[in-house]
Amino acid sequence: MSSLPSKVILVDVGPRDGLQNEKQTVDAAVKIELVHRLQAAGLSEIEVTSFVSPKWVPQMADNAAVLAGIVRQPGVRYSVLVPNMKGLDAALSAPRDQWPDEIVVFGAATEVFSRRNINCSIAESVERFRPVVAAAQAQGIRVRGAVSVALGCPYQGEVSADEVEHVVKLLKEIGVDHCGIADTIGVGTPKKVQAALERALKHYTVAEVSGHFHDTYAQAIVNVYAALEVGIATFDASIAGLGGCPYAMGATGNVATEDVVFLLQGLGIETGISLDGLVDAAAFISGVLGRKPVSRSANALLAKRASLSS
Ligand code: HMG
Ligand code: MG
Repeated sequence: MSSLPSKVILVDVGPRDGLQNEKQTVDAAVKIELVHRLQAAGLSEIEVTSFVSPKWVPQMADNAAVLAGIVRQPGVRYSVLVPNMKGLDAALSAPRDQWPDEIVVFGAATEVFSRRNINCSIAESVERFRPVVAAAQAQGIRVRGAVSVALGCPYQGEVSADEVEHVVKLLKEIGVDHCGIADTIGVGTPKKVQAALERALKHYTVAEVSGHFHDTYAQAIVNVYAALEVGIATFDASIAGLGGCPYAMGATGNVATEDVVFLLQGLGIETGISLDGLVDAAAFISGVLGRKPVSRSANALLAKRASLSS
C-alpha cells in the first residue's frame, strides 16, 4: 500500500469557481465576507475572483472591489484567474497591497473547449499566457496553470492522457510554476485521474501538481483519494460544494471543502483547517444563496449542531 502525504494544502475556489456560476447577483460584500470566513477557518489559499470579460462572466465583474475589500491575513495566499494581459493589467492596476499573490492561467486539453471557454485555440492560449506569466513573475507573483477538461470534455467526449500531457508540457515551457489537472465536468474515475496526474508528474514535481475535481458523477472524493495515492498533496475544493463552469453545461460544483477535510481528518492528514469554521462558512454562503450546502458533511454537522442546541 502506498503511503499517503502527511500534509495537504487545500485551495478554496468557492468565491471564484462557485460564485461565477450563480444566476443571482452576489454582492461584493458577501464575497468578501465569505473570504474572511474561509481564512478564519484556516484556509491558507483562496481563489477569490477572476479578471475575465464581464460580458462573458458578469458575476466576476466586481473583481477589483472584492480584492480591495479583503482584510488580508498573513500567511494566506490570494489568487485570481487571468486569461490575458488585459486581465493582468487590470489585476495590477490597484495599489500593490491589493494585488493577488498568485494568478491562474487556464487552458484546456481540447481545442473545442478552449474555443468555447476562452475563444482561442490551445496554441493561441499559450501565446496569450506567455507574456502574462513573464510579467506576473517579474513582479514576484506566482503562476498556476489549470488544464480544463483533462478527464472528459462536454463537446469532444473522451480526452486522452496524451492530450493532457501536451498542454501540461506547453505550460511548463512558458514557465508556469504549478499545474492543476481539472475535471471540469466531473466524469473522471480513479484510474483515469491517476493516469492524467502521472502525465503531469513527468513535467512537474509532486508539490507543483494539484487536483481540481468537480463532482457531477459523485466521483470527486474518491478521485481525491486516488490522487493522494500518487502523492498529490494540493487540491482545489469549494466551500459548500459551490461551483461549475458557465461553458460546461450540466457540470456541478467542485468537491466540497468540508467533505475533503472530513476525509483527510479521518486519514490523519494535516490541513490546518477547522471543520467547524468551514461549516460556519458553508452555512453563511448557503443562507445568502437560499439553499442547503451540497456538502454532505456540512449538512450532517449542521443537523448535529441543531440537535445539540434543541
Ligand atoms: P475575446 O472576446 O476573445 O477577447 O475573449 P478580446 O481580446 O477579443 O476582447 C473582446 C472584449 O473583451 C473587449 O471588450 C475586451 O476589452 C474585453 P469590448 O471591446 O468588446 O468592450 N476583454 C476583457 N475584459 C475584461 N477582462 C479581460 C478581458 N479580455 C478581453 N481580461 C476572453 C477572450 C478570455 C477575455 C473571454 O473569452 C472570457 O472572458 N472568457 C471567460 C472565461 C471564464 O471565465 N470561464 C470560467 C472560468 S474557467 C473555469 O471555470 C475552469 C476552472 O475552474 C478549471 C476547471 O474546472 O476546468 C479554472
Ligand atoms: Mg472548475
